[in-house]
Amino acid sequence: MAPATVASLFEPIQLGPLTLRNRVFISALTRNRSVPTNIPNAVNLEYYQQRAKSAGLIITEAVLITPQGSEWPHAPGIWSKEQVAGWRKITDAVHKEGSFIFAQLWHLGRISHPDAPEQKAAGVPVYAPSAIAARGGKFRFIPGEPGYVTPTAIDDPTILLDLFEKAAVNAKEAGFDGVELHGANGYLVHQFLDSSSNTRTDSWGGSAASRSKFGLLVLERLNKVFGKDRVGIKLSPTGGYNDMGMPLEETIETFTHFITEADKLGIAYIDLVRYVDQLDPVFDGKKRGTKHDVISTYAHLMKNAKVFSNGGWTGEEAAAAVKDGKVQGVFFGMGWINHPDFAARLEHGKPLDNPLDYTTLYGKYYASEEEQRKGYVDYPAAEY
Ligand SMILES: Cc1cc2nc3c(=O)[nH]c(=O)nc-3n(C[C@H](O)[C@H](O)[C@H](O)COP(=O)(O)O)c2cc1C
Repeated sequence: MAPATVASLFEPIQLGPLTLRNRVFISALTRNRSVPTNIPNAVNLEYYQQRAKSAGLIITEAVLITPQGSEWPHAPGIWSKEQVAGWRKITDAVHKEGSFIFAQLWHLGRISHPDAPEQKAAGVPVYAPSAIAARGGKFRFIPGEPGYVTPTAIDDPTILLDLFEKAAVNAKEAGFDGVELHGANGYLVHQFLDSSSNTRTDSWGGSAASRSKFGLLVLERLNKVFGKDRVGIKLSPTGGYNDMGMPLEETIETFTHFITEADKLGIAYIDLVRYVDQLDPVFDGKKRGTKHDVISTYAHLMKNAKVFSNGGWTGEEAAAAVKDGKVQGVFFGMGWINHPDFAARLEHGKPLDNPLDYTTLYGKYYASEEEQRKGYVDYPAAEY
């Protein structure tokens, strides 16, 4: 039996048609190990299989819906038959272990570089809502290690909706239980929501409702493919990362509108990411993000979708929040990197004592399979 301090995390939870065995979930973690291409491989499979033994729900690392110039050139995609086949092996392995897996669907928007090989191969510009560059970025594999560029404001955003829908069709074919829309951390959906990256004067920008339109239409497309209760979204209203953030009043107005409307669509969950100081960069001597309590501000708006959260939670704190009815499940990120059996350790009162190797978080750009395994699939499980 789980220690009393974490017991509430081990009560099963119903997510639409899925019965999750616990409330200890894995948040999306880009590990950049789909080497040498963007196709999920045997080492990726081993990584997910290890974690599926105890996780209640797994969100994959962010999955590129179309070829793009990511800062992580070995992030996996889901646009080709080969990628779908690679993911199929992973979803099968996860199901055999009794867990469930959602693909996190990712479009980078302005956080992409036109000189990266994948972006060049795509033959399209770096699209975003408006031609406003994010500050920061470092494309280490491009000569001169450039930062983010001024993107091209897309004329007709419905082109991008089509890409999300196609990715969802592929995710279904790959055997995923659902999809999570990456609406956080300053990528495309977030860029539409935030008035500092979206200054459009057409129906896709301006008011909170107009800035919400893109993300809500993506959710509708994903629902169309997967059906009710199989689509989630991750949101980081406090911003910061990737040069996101609005004044507090505008932030609350925007996310209140978005969450209220998203909830009406019949989605499975909304993951509210709390403010994490390390993810908030300093520009002009000031922190970029807009600190506020996302649970007390937004959770009450969710009448249908499950309230999940992420961002700096410990097991004990998460269990208390579940017990108090503040959230229904919690995503953990870093904890799962160096503990393949993170949920089992909580359940059996084992210490979280594997040291984390920061040098291997994102892998190596041009490394052998052996090197890719380091700091990825070689963290030991505890003895039970
Ligand atoms: C190595 C690494 C990769 C990450 N990749 C993603 C990603 O692909 N998609 C995403 O939504 N968040 C990503 N994140 C953020 C985590 O999912 C999570 O939101 C963050 O680490 C806070 O949770 P934690 O305090 O439990 O680690 C990443 C974080 C780390 C450390």
